[in-house]
Order: sequence, then C-alpha cells, then structure tokens
Amino acid sequence: MPLILGLESSCDDSAAAVVSDHRSILAQAVIGQDEAHRPFGGVVPEIAARAHVARLPALIRQVLDQASVTPADLDAIAATAGPGLIGGVMVALLAGKGLALATGKPLIAVNHLEGHALSPRLADPQLNFPYLLLLVSGGHCQLLEVDGVGSYRRLATTIDDAAGEAFDKAAKLLGLGYPGGPAIERFASEGDPCAVPLPRPLLGSIEPHFSFAGLKSAVQRAAASGAHRPADIAASFQQAVIDCLVDRTARALAASAAPTLVVAGGVAANGAVRSALDTLASDHGRQFSVPPGWLCTDNAAMIGWAGVERFAAGLLDPLDVPARARWPLDERAEKVRGAGVKA
Ligand code: KG4
Ligand code: ZN
Repeated sequence: MPLILGLESSCDDSAAAVVSDHRSILAQAVIGQDEAHRPFGGVVPEIAARAHVARLPALIRQVLDQASVTPADLDAIAATAGPGLIGGVMVALLAGKGLALATGKPLIAVNHLEGHALSPRLADPQLNFPYLLLLVSGGHCQLLEVDGVGSYRRLATTIDDAAGEAFDKAAKLLGLGYPGGPAIERFASEGDPCAVPLPRPLLGSIEPHFSFAGLKSAVQRAAASGAHRPADIAASFQQAVIDCLVDRTARALAASAAPTLVVAGGVAANGAVRSALDTLASDHGRQFSVPPGWLCTDNAAMIGWAGVERFAAGLLDPLDVPARARWPLDERAEKVRGAGVKA
C-alpha cells in the first residue's frame, strides 16, 4: 500500500497530508491565513511565503504523528511545484526535497492544477477517465478534457479574471472582506438573484472561453449607485457567474463524448454552483462528480492523491526539479487574451 506525504503552499494555505492508494487519507491538516491577508483585501505574497516557512514543519510533524508513520515508512513525497506565488511554492517544494534527500525516497513534483483535476477521483471511486473537467479556482477557470494522469487537453480558459477572483473582487466591492467566495455565498442566500441586471460576458459566444472582468465592473456600478440592497447584488452576481459557467460548460459538453462532468477547485465549494452543474450534467445525460467542499479548496490531500496517481504511473522527479510560478496543465494550449497577454 503506497503511502505518500502531500505538501502544499502555493497560495495562502499551508497544508500537509498522508494519503494511501486505497483512497484513504490517513491524516491531513490545513492552516489558512485569512486573518493575515484580510486587511489588504487579497493575498500578499511576501506575508504568505513567510507564514508557510513558519508553519509547514509543524504541520508535517502533525500529520506524520496522526497517521502513525515515520518519514522512513513513506513511499514518496509529493509537493506542489507550481503554479502559484513563487515564494510560497518554494517552501513546500524545498521541504519535500529535504525529506526526499534525508530519506532517500522519491520526490513527486505536483502541478497544483493537477491536484485539483485528480481530486474528484480521491473522493469518488466510480470516477474513471475520461471526464470533462470544469476547474474553477481563485487563479484559474478552465474546461479540460482529462484523459488520464498527465493527459489534459484545455478546451477553454478565461480571457481575463478567474471565477474565484471575480468572487473575491465582488466581495471586496460589497465590503464583505476576504476571502470573497464563501462571504458572497452566505450573503447571496438572503438576496434576490433576479433583482440586479448584470451582464453575462461571452454568453452564447462561438468562442469557447470565459470572461468575468465586465461583470466585476457592473457590480462596482451597481454598488456605487446605492439603488440596490447589497444582498441582492451578491445574489445577482453569483447567478451571473453561474449562468456563464453553465453556458460555457454546456458548449463544451455538446462537443465532448466524456461520460462524466466533473467540477473542482475552490469555487466548486459553492452550493449553488454545484447544483447548477449537476442539473446541466443530467440534462445532457452525463454523470456528475464533485468533491466535498473541503477537498475543493486548497488542501494537501489532493496533492498527496496526485502523488499516488503519479507514483502508480512511475512519474517521479529529480531533486533539481524547478519551482514554477507559471505551469499550464496543457502545455500545448495556445495563450489567449488576459494573464498579461493583450489582444
Ligand atoms: O482552489 P482554491 O482554494 O485556491 C486556488 O487554487 O486558487 O480557490 C480559492 C478561490 C477563492 O477565489 C475563493 O473566493 C473561492 O475559491 N471560493 C468560493 C467559495 N469557496 C472558495 N467561491 C464561491 N463560493 C464559495 N463557497
Ligand atoms: Zn487551488
């Protein structure tokens, strides 16, 4: 039974987990940094990296103790090697390299997005390849055809903001604080999703991509007008994001033979997002799979699980593997507007 230690520090969550190939999580722990970043309304990379340096060693000790294993019992160490805030990425990767060096066990450098992409298979033993994946997080909004471990074909991405980023920006505009997604979801439950007319960028477009920047500007105008209840703006915003996600995913589903629609990443923790996509899948005669909420937001169990899958496929990495701020899951996918690419 391969035992893998997973390590994660690519954004503002320090996390460690011990995972086995029987889909069992022997131990896992996450420490967030919401308090530290709240005054700034978003993640401050320097603060995040320093906090990872301070916290990750104790977390590793904690999960090894809880799982009753020593580093010598591990079969490999899986650490996120990107993409993300580079100062943070380096912390878990270097911790993983140190453990690999000390124990002689192999290192597995995990793409954080692959962690999200494979996490549904940790939760759902029935989920086989291929599947159509909607990956919606704070940094990414992509549709991918997942054909196997390490085999990802990007069908669509965002031309500006990621879906989670839009939630965070809308929450900031509404004075709901950071992180925005859970705050908007709570607030939206008291509002009317039809009260505020907001745009649905790229809805019905023949191009496959997502766009959320115009929606953010519209929220800004609605908030500044003083004409609407903030809860109504939150509910209308959440509905607009959902309409965009559903429309773009429906377009991809129509062209995909994959039997299952899968949603992963932090925004997939949102109950309204989950149920809208569940309905979409059944309307298209597809199975639907989404991990539990705690496995959607950043954690190390998904990194350990990606490690289990890569270990089984013999995909190990040398100790000089680099930390990468940018690391697309589908390296062949062309760049689109946004993310520093102007068009
Ligand atoms: O996957 P994740 O934890 O980190 C990244 O890899 O980016 O995703 C974080 C993002 C944040 O933008 C956060 O606001 C959003 O996921 N999020 C949510 C919810 N929980 C987290 N968005 C909407 N509703 C939620 N309940
Ligand atoms: Zn993530």
